[in-house]
Parts: sequence; C-alpha cells; structure tokens
Amino acid sequence: MSEARKILVTSALPYANGSIHLGHMLEYIQTDMWVRFQKLRGNQCVYVCADDAHGSAIMLRAEKEGISAEQLIANVKAEHTADFADFLVDFDNYHSTHAEENRELSSAIYLKLRDAGHIATRAVTQYFDPEKGMFLADRFIKGTCPKCAAEDQYGDNCEKCGATYEPTELKNPRSAISGAVPVLKESKHFFFKLPDFEAMLKSWTRSGTLQDAVANKIAEWLDGGLQEWDISRDAPYFGFEIPDEPGKYFYVWLDAPIGYMASFKNLCAKRPELDFDAFWAKDSTAELYHFIGKDIVNFHALFWPAMLEGAGFRKPSGVNVHGYLTVNGQKMSKSRGTFIKARTYLDHLNPEYLRYYYAAKLGRGVDDLDLNLEDFVQKVNSDLVGKVVNIASRCAGFIHKGNAGVLVAGNAAPELTEAFQAAAPSIAEAYEARDFSRAMREVMALADRANAWIADKAPWVLAKQDGKQAEVQAVCALGVNLFRQLVILLKPVLPNLASAAEAFLNVAPLTWDDHQSLLANHQLNPFNPLLTRIEPAKIEAMIEASKEDLAATEASNPPQGNGELSKEPLAAEIAFDTFAAVDLRIALIEKAEFVEGADKLLRLTLDIGDAKRNVFSGIKSAYPDPSKLEGRLTLYVANLAARKMKFGVSEGMVLAAGPGGEDIYLLSPDNGAKPGQRVK
Ligand code: MSP
Ligand code: ZN
Repeated sequence: MSEARKILVTSALPYANGSIHLGHMLEYIQTDMWVRFQKLRGNQCVYVCADDAHGSAIMLRAEKEGISAEQLIANVKAEHTADFADFLVDFDNYHSTHAEENRELSSAIYLKLRDAGHIATRAVTQYFDPEKGMFLADRFIKGTCPKCAAEDQYGDNCEKCGATYEPTELKNPRSAISGAVPVLKESKHFFFKLPDFEAMLKSWTRSGTLQDAVANKIAEWLDGGLQEWDISRDAPYFGFEIPDEPGKYFYVWLDAPIGYMASFKNLCAKRPELDFDAFWAKDSTAELYHFIGKDIVNFHALFWPAMLEGAGFRKPSGVNVHGYLTVNGQKMSKSRGTFIKARTYLDHLNPEYLRYYYAAKLGRGVDDLDLNLEDFVQKVNSDLVGKVVNIASRCAGFIHKGNAGVLVAGNAAPELTEAFQAAAPSIAEAYEARDFSRAMREVMALADRANAWIADKAPWVLAKQDGKQAEVQAVCALGVNLFRQLVILLKPVLPNLASAAEAFLNVAPLTWDDHQSLLANHQLNPFNPLLTRIEPAKIEAMIEASKEDLAATEASNPPQGNGELSKEPLAAEIAFDTFAAVDLRIALIEKAEFVEGADKLLRLTLDIGDAKRNVFSGIKSAYPDPSKLEGRLTLYVANLAARKMKFGVSEGMVLAAGPGGEDIYLLSPDNGAKPGQRVK
C-alpha cells in the first residue's frame, strides 16, 4: 500500500443571500462523493467550505429585511448547514468569509501583492445613486435598451434583444435601488495586475490542472490578452476594508477564494494534527482541489492562482469544473415547479436517491446534467431497490429462518467473488477520475451478475426441497457477501445505506480494502428494509410544493433568527400599519372537497357573511376526510390578491399552524363568532 495522500478539497462557497437548490447540490454531492471515496481509501482528505457572505447584494437584502447583514448571514448559514447535513454532505469545516481568519488572510495577501508591485490604482467613473449615496453595480441600474428600446433592462445587457453595452449607453437610466436618476462620479479604484502572471498562467493551465475543455477556453482568454482586475468597491459595502485605505473595501470576489484558506485555518485551530503551512506553503506536497461550476472558471483558474503565486503560496493541483443542472431538459423554472430547493426535495424524498442519480450521470466533463424526473424514478427504483437491496432482502430471510442468522463459511461461486474483486481497481480508478457514471455502471453490472446467479440457484425453490438446506445456506451466504461487496463499492455515494447495511451485517464501518475478504461463520442482525421505492406521487408533491415555495417567498419576508420562540425563526419586524393592512375575517367552511390531480390541496367554499369565496388550501395531508371540515369556522385573509392555480383561481387564504404533513392545524375562533366579522 502506498503512503496515504494529504488532500484538501473545496466546493465553491455559496452566496449567503439565498437558499440552496438542486443545482447547487450537484456540486456539493459531487465533491462529497469524491471526498468520501478518498477517506474510504485511507487518505488524509479534508473538505472545507463556507458561506460567501460579502457584497452589495447581501447588504441591500439585509436592509430590505430590516436586519443587520450579520444577522442575515447568520440565518442563512444555519439554513445552508442544515440543508447540506441532510443531503449527507460531510464537510470537515463550514465557515464564513465574514470571519476573522479571512480578514487577516485577505489583508496579508493584499499587502504582499501590493508590496511586490502587483496592485495599481486609478480613477474610475461610474454611475452613482445620489439618493442612496452609493455607486451602482451594473445590475442595480435599469433603463431602456440602446439597441432595441426595450424598457426596464439592466445596466449591462438586454434580456429582450441580447445586446451587451456599458451602463452609460442605457437610455433613461434609473437606480434599481431608489429609482433616482444616477449621476456619473469618479473615485479611486484598486486593480490586481493580472497581466504580470501571464507566463505562469499559460503554463499552469496546461499542466494537467484543468479539464481539456476548460483549458481550451482559458487559452482563448489568454490569447485575447489579460486585463487588470478591479478589486475595490467604495463604501457603503459589506466586506473588509482595504488596509491603509479607509472607505475602500475588497470586492467580494477578492476575499471569497481566500475563504477556502480561512475555513481551513479555522479548522486547524480545532484539529491540532492539521498544519496550515503543510497545505498552503509554496513547497507544500499536499494536494489541493477546487470543485466549481462552469460559470466561475475565470475566478478560479486565472485570478486565484495568480493571487496565490503573487503572495507566495502554493497553487491548486486541480480545478474540477462541472456543468449546470437542468430539470426535465430545461433550465430550472419557478413557474414549472422545477426550481427545487434542497429543503423542498428533502421534505419529500430520500437524499440518497438524488446522490445516486447524480453519480449515475456525472462524468469527468463540463457538460450540463439533466435531472429527468421520470428517468430518476425509474433508475433509482430499478438499480438501488431492484438490484442492490434486492440481493440482501432475497437472502436474509433464509439465513434467519434456516440457520439462526449465521452466515455459513465457504464460497459457492469463486468465479463470481473473483470477478467482484477484479472489478474493484477499475471502479476505484473511475472514482479517482471523478467518472462517477462509469463507477456506477460497473457496480450495477456486478449487481446484475449477482442477481442472475441467485435467480439461477433459486434458493426459494431449493428451500422447499428435502435435503437442500445446506445448499440454500451456501447460496444465501454468498448472496449476502456479494451484497456486502456492492455496499463497499457504493459507500461514497450512499453513506446512509452503507451504515444501515453495516448494522444488518453486524460489522464495523466498512473500508475500501474490506472488499478483499468474505464474511464466514458470522452472525447477522435482523434485516430491515434498507431503501424503499420512489413513489411517483412524491415527485408530483415536490413539484407542487416548489410552485408553492415561490408564492411563499414572494409573499413573506425571509426568516430572521430567534431560537427561543420555536424552531422556526421569527420573521422580520413589521410596522403596525403593515399588520393592519391585512383584512382578517371569520369564515364558515361550507364545503371542503378533494381536487382532482392535486396532491396537497383541498378546495374550500367559504361563507364570509355577504359573499362566497373559493380557496385552495394545501392542508389535504392533515385532513384526509375533508367533510369533517364542513360547518367549521376559521380565519380567512380576505384581501389577499387572487392567485391563479392549475385548478382554478384561489381567492384568499385560510390560516393554519404547524410544520406540514399531518401536522397542520386549522385555526378557529371561539364559539359565537359570525362569518364575515373582521378579526382585530
Ligand atoms: N459565491 C460564489 C462562489 C465563490 S467561490 C470562492 C458563487 N456562489 S453560488 O451560490 O452562486 O454558486 C455556488 C456553486 O454552485 C458554484 O460553483 C455554481 O457554479 C454552482 N451552481 C449554481 N447553480 C447551479 C446549477 N444550476 N447547476 C450546477 N451548479 C450550479 O458562485
Ligand atoms: Zn434590447
């Protein structure tokens, strides 16, 4: 066995101003599977990440919610961490770019670059919002397209005709923040002199650090000539102030990749066996890999290695780029319900289904990956449930019934176990090369062979024949052993399935090398179903909920933290007028019915005194017999804008509490309240 490798791995740092969705998850699942594979092999592999917490978008969103930027990023970090944990993404550390380690490292790197002559300054003229008192990034300026005259277009490109332009070319420009007419204003900016690193980048990008397609793209940029990179922003900005330059801040993308180092440094303080310099010093022999999406290649394959080089650190061993996620062949869409948040998925489906599907479709390339939901159901059910788990469930019963749960010794088909062992190195190679789809294909081919062999031996037939008990035990013992091999080979992808299998097999956590041995004379634990089939109705419910998510995010303010009141964070404070603007009424539920084709909805006919209202309400799971609701009084939002849904128009909303599913409780007034009365 060669010496264990030292490997530091990162995924891109998600912005701290939004929820994680299934597109993001492609990256974190991909990285996590690779990291788990390395750990399973006995390498020292460390996986760090963080929230990317800086920038004007975060500052403005916090303002809008009436909370501090610090509070906003704390809330979002808690949400992100829970999403990742529930998708079984096992970071060694999850930090934030708004952290002391990052401030120190960012300042130190900047000062090294400055002192080595790699920073330039010059005046830049930009649009400025005189009302808000801040410079406007292109996406905060709106106006009329100079090419096609479409109104309400952003400062850098037109969504109508596709033209790109300078914000100053926009007709009738307005600040998207205050609506004010922006004025041109000059200020001093700081630039990182990227062209100083052209020779280094030409060789580094061609030294096996990048996939060919990525290296080719970068070669085009390098041939076109490198530009100096503007790394400063003027106050007000949420970020780190530039040393010796009051009022000037590092642009978010300057300190974001340094956040990788900062997260690792933060981890070093918790894990004394880790040494910061051993991973980051210029002469480090550790490996360093960044997993990123194709949209942020320039930051990771040009600016970042140049910054590291200029500041005297080691450069990445590799930048691993993946494509974008599409759902059902199209860009994720909020109106189609395919813009699926991580949490919405988790509310309906097991995370390992998605981990397996992504693995089955992820190659080494930068192609986009399509989550086709029909194919997803079919593939997971047929491969994981039909092929892998099936082997154990077919064999376990006979061993418990016929031999008190003890696996007999012996090998009923050496040619099979040899084939399994011979396949392992090639599967390991595929994992190492991030060719997960090949790894999954090869594992499933083994599962097919195991199933075919068991079907051929048919222990269920033998069990009914006299004198065949020994053969039944021999066949089933091997079946369970083959299942164990498959579990080892799939463990990076399916960690929960693996631990449930380890419990059934009554063994310590399996490592990669365990595939070389077989269990013999070994007591098993009772078999519990390890994984169930995906029910297509769950998919529909997830899609419906994704449409509802959208309505919810549009209607309400995002959460604000307050751990004491309940698990659900307290929403941002509102003025009394805002509250008073909600017209709450008592309503009598006259009729409550199922809605054909809707998974979660009931159709309610409400009597609100002088009128009737039709409302669709997502409470079906809690009220399986809707007739029980008829005749009940409840609370009703009477002045909510009507919402057109697939099944008709919903006029207002009834009020209920609870997390969802069966735990939904419709609110009711005390006896004596009359339909139509206003709630005050
Ligand atoms: N904050 C920056 C990264 C800074 S790294 C020093 C950022 N954040 S992000 O939240 O927009 O994206 C995080 C990662 O998710 C990126 O690698 C991005 O490419 C990836 N994805 C975001 N949407 C995606 C899809 N729809 N599909 C696949 N990956 C996607 O960029
Ligand atoms: Zn246009």
